[in-house]
Amino acid sequence: MQTVLVSGKNGQLGSELLNAHVSYPQFKFIFLDREEMDLSSQTSIAQAFDKYNPDYFINCGAYTLVDKAETEKDLSEKINGENVGYIAELCKGLNATLIHISTDYVFDGNNKSPYKTDDKTNPVNFYGQTKLQGEQAALAKNDKTIIIRTAWVYSSFGKNFVKTMLRLMNEKEEISVVNDQVGTPTYARDLAIAICEIISSDKKEYGIYHFTNSGIISWFDFAVEIKNLANLNCKVNAIPTSKFPTPAKRPHYSVLDKSKIVEDYGIQLRDWKDSLKECMSYLQPIV
Ligand SMILES: NC(=O)c1ccc[n+]([C@@H]2O[C@H](COP(=O)([O-])OP(=O)(O)OC[C@H]3O[C@@H](n4cnc5c(N)ncnc54)[C@H](OP(=O)(O)O)[C@@H]3O)[C@@H](O)[C@H]2O)c1
Repeated sequence: MQTVLVSGKNGQLGSELLNAHVSYPQFKFIFLDREEMDLSSQTSIAQAFDKYNPDYFINCGAYTLVDKAETEKDLSEKINGENVGYIAELCKGLNATLIHISTDYVFDGNNKSPYKTDDKTNPVNFYGQTKLQGEQAALAKNDKTIIIRTAWVYSSFGKNFVKTMLRLMNEKEEISVVNDQVGTPTYARDLAIAICEIISSDKKEYGIYHFTNSGIISWFDFAVEIKNLANLNCKVNAIPTSKFPTPAKRPHYSVLDKSKIVEDYGIQLRDWKDSLKECMSYLQPIV
């Protein structure tokens, strides 16, 4: 039986993979948290690889504090950049497949149509730069690398926009959300299932892929749909990004073209509204 080692067990994607993996009993999944595999330490990473000798490594762990990365440069670069290259080297040594998750923030957001996997990268912030460095190192060091770029990830687990909106909409009469950043949300559960489908597939295609749900919306549209599904009365105002400054810049347009993952692996994309509805059916009783 092939072993699938997963980092970042307690993150949004790691938690969804922990749920989804039970439908794939042909693999032996091992999930590690930060204590069991510290992605900032090559010693810790090497110890986990020595112990489990994986056939697949799914890197769900990452430095994901986008604004803090602007100042915590060494740590974010180590976890998202340099050590991803080290993980790829260890995978190469074991002839293992590396599935590494990356981001729409590798692009600058100036496109007018969905970003293809081979479009020119130009990270919009330092986090995006570290993620791009990780992509490049992983692809250079292990031919059996699959990079999956995703965007606007949410889940019933962890911290995310959906949960923040529900909290604010319950607390306030009025909130403001930016309407000039356009993209597509990704339900982490859908991404977790797509990853399980990829490793289960007979096809062996490597390289860069894009995955989100389908549709094109702004954060304002996303917030309005959350409000409607939750049946809340809070007023949602549309504002420009200039009224909501953040330490790290965000792309104005980050829609990803998903045709390659659909064509190569037959992954089906769900409409963003359907996925949001499903997630909220798990969330509402606990928020
Ligand atoms: N969230 C988004 O909107 C988004 C968008 C595009 C791409 N992505 C990418 O998608 C992937 C999954 O993101 P996510 O949303 O699931 O992230 P998340 O919920 O923030 O989870 C990140 C995980 O990484 C772990 N981690 C952080 N530092 C670590 C370290 N030094 N050693 C070991 N583990 C460490 C965290 O551990 P703790 O639980 O102990 O904190 C957490 O479990 C990441 O590669 C991210 O860059 C995310």
